[in-house]
Amino acid sequence: MNRDDFPMLNQDIIYFDNGATTFKPQSVINAITDYYENYSANAHRGDYDISYKVDLAYENVREEVRDFINAKNKEEIIFTSGTTMSLNMVADSFFKKYLEAGDEVLITKTEHASNVLPWFNLANEIGIKVNYIDLDSDYHVTIDNVLKAITPKTKVISLAYITNVIGDIRPIKEICKIAHERNIFVIIDAAQAIAHKKIDVQDLDVDFLAFSAHKMYGPTGVGVLYGKKELLDEANCYMLGGGMNESFDSEKEILLKSLPYKFEAGTQNIAGVIGLGAAIKYISNIGLDNINIYEMKLRNYLVEKLEKYSYIDIINYEADSAIVSFNVDKIFSQDIAYYLNKYKVCVRAGNHCAKLVKNVTGVTNSVRISLSFYNTEEEIDEVVSLLSDYEKIRNEMI
Ligand code: ALA
Repeated sequence: MNRDDFPMLNQDIIYFDNGATTFKPQSVINAITDYYENYSANAHRGDYDISYKVDLAYENVREEVRDFINAKNKEEIIFTSGTTMSLNMVADSFFKKYLEAGDEVLITKTEHASNVLPWFNLANEIGIKVNYIDLDSDYHVTIDNVLKAITPKTKVISLAYITNVIGDIRPIKEICKIAHERNIFVIIDAAQAIAHKKIDVQDLDVDFLAFSAHKMYGPTGVGVLYGKKELLDEANCYMLGGGMNESFDSEKEILLKSLPYKFEAGTQNIAGVIGLGAAIKYISNIGLDNINIYEMKLRNYLVEKLEKYSYIDIINYEADSAIVSFNVDKIFSQDIAYYLNKYKVCVRAGNHCAKLVKNVTGVTNSVRISLSFYNTEEEIDEVVSLLSDYEKIRNEMI
C-alpha cells in the first residue's frame, strides 16, 4: 500500500520498527522543504508577507489537528516536542497543582516510561501514590480490574491507548465514563495509537491526550497535547519566555497569553508543525479504517507464521494492534535483532522503555515487530524464513 510515496523504502531494507518511528512520505518531506526554501520566517512575530504566510500555515495545522482528533476548540491543541513532553506537561502544569499528598494515580505496569516517570516524580515531589491496575492473563486492562483498583483517593487514571510492547487496546471510552462518574481525570498516551486507530476525543471524553508526529509519518521533535479547555485554562504554564506572555513589568506583573499560546513559549518547531499537517493529510487520504484493516491482516499473517515454531514465544499473542513481541528460546533478544540486521531487517529489541513490563510478563527483553500499512506479506515471509531455522540463528550468534 502506497510504498512509492516513501523514499526510505527505496533502500534494500525491511523496516519493522514503526512503533519506534515511521518513515516519512514525500509529501511530508516536501512540505518541510517548502517551508525552509520559500517562507522560513518565525511565527506570530513578524509584520511582513512571508511571516503572515507562516502564521497561517502554523495555525491551519492546529485546525487540522483539531479536526483529526475531533476536539471541540482549536485552543485545546498545544504543540509540544512530542508525547513525552506532553505527558510531562500534564503532570507538571496541571496535576502538580491539583493533587495532594496521598492522592492516587492509576497506571499499569505495561506503560511506557513517559507515562510512569512523571507520576513517580510527583510521588517524590508532593507525595502522591502511584497504583497499578491489575492486568488479565493476556496483559490487558479490563473494566472489572479498573473498578477494583479505584479507591476514594483515586484522582487520575493515566493509560496508553495502545501499549508499545503488549500492543493491547484499552477500553478508553468505558474507562472515561467510570472515571468521570467518580470525579477522576483520564489521561491518554496515544503515541502508539494515533497512526493506527481513529481517535475522537469528544466521543471518548478524555481529559488530556498526547501524541507525537513522528509515529504518524510526520517529523521528529513535534507532537501535541490535547486538553479540555477548562482544564488547560487552569493549568500553570510549563515554560516561560517569548510568545506566551502579553506583558510583564516586574515579577508581580506577568500577564500570560490565553490558550493555546500560554503553553508555546519560544520559537516553536514550525517546520515540524507544518510537516505534521502534511502527515495528517496523508493519513486521512488513506483512511485510518483502511489502515487498521490492512495492518490487522498483516499482524494475523505474521502471528500465524511465527506460532508454527515451538522455539518462538509470542508474548502478546492476543492484541488488536500492529505490534508483535516475541522471544526466541535461549537467545537474547538483541542478538536476534543483530542477526536480522545482517539481512537488512530492522526490528527493535530490549525493554522498549517499558521497564515495568517484566513485572507482569516475567520477560525483561523481547524482539518487537511493529507494522505499518507500507509493510507487506512478502516482507513477513522473508523475516519468518530467517527465523525458521533455529540452528542457523544459533550458529550465526557464535
Ligand atoms: N517509544 C518508542 C518505542 O516504543 C520509541 O519504540
